[in-house]
Amino acid sequence: MKSTIFAALAALIRGATAQESIQGGAIYNVPSGSSTTITSVSGTFRVPDASVPLVGPTSGHKGIYAFGIWVGIGGWAGSGSASSCPAGSGVLRAGIDVYYDGFSNVPMTPWAWYQYGVSNEAGAFAYAGFNLEAGDLIKITVSGVSSNVTAIIENYGKVTSTAGRQPIQSAPPTFGFQGANVANTLCRTEAGWVVENHMTETNPPEPVVMANFTQVAFTELNLQTTAGAVGAKAAKLVNINLADQGGKLTDCSAPSDSEVRCRRTLQ
Ligand SMILES: *[C@@H]1O[C@H](CO)[C@@H](O)[C@H](O)[C@H]1NC(C)=O
Ligand SMILES: *[C@@H]1O[C@H](CO)[C@@H](O)[C@H](O)[C@H]1NC(C)=O
Repeated sequence: MKSTIFAALAALIRGATAQESIQGGAIYNVPSGSSTTITSVSGTFRVPDASVPLVGPTSGHKGIYAFGIWVGIGGWAGSGSASSCPAGSGVLRAGIDVYYDGFSNVPMTPWAWYQYGVSNEAGAFAYAGFNLEAGDLIKITVSGVSSNVTAIIENYGKVTSTAGRQPIQSAPPTFGFQGANVANTLCRTEAGWVVENHMTETNPPEPVVMANFTQVAFTELNLQTTAGAVGAKAAKLVNINLADQGGKLTDCSAPSDSEVRCRRTLQ
């Protein structure tokens, strides 16, 4: 997978129709007219097991199944995105992509990435040397105070308890990352915890065929703004909805201010 390219394509897609969405999860927008800005967002989730959808139009797909999970500040509006950031503004997000090989019927190794910039320039880059596998507990923290912006990913492995937990690995953005440049365009009025059918590199690009997965639960959510903390219940809930893949593919909820869950559904 050429990681640097899919994100740029996401801005140019043949696209989801107006009713369609390539994103599920929760997106918070600062109330319009307010001068409040977002200073950090974090969330923890476990790398899910991917599998073949048992039912629906994609169940017999001979190809790659995928989806991404990310936490970030900013967004690019249009093309099936749930973002309402202004055109020309940028993102800073970090996440993982999960794959399943439908040719050979085996899960593939997931990878961790960060992505930044405005839509026609942005690529996603691998966190160099960062390892992860299904079942690992991942924490992502994206922060931006004036020109100090960063996106840290941590892997806590298979731990089941928060007590005394230490990351096995922790990584900041490296290749190509210039925080001050990112800061100049960053859309600081939006943040989200998102499951996404990112776009393929085919011509024309299409949303990836979504793998089935065990539930994605974003926990320990912390969203900070210049006006204080904001809970997940203040965010707008969205779901992936793609007619070609059977319609509504996620069922996302915010059971508390610190948790957002997305189940894989068909209808
Ligand atoms: C996804 O996998 C789960 C667990 O195996 C299964 O119960 C569920 O029906 C599957 N969903 C789809 C859409 O195939
Ligand atoms: C920049 O932000 C990071 C993350 O919040 C923080 O750890 C670091 O101390 C900040 N650096 C400066 C120079 O303020």
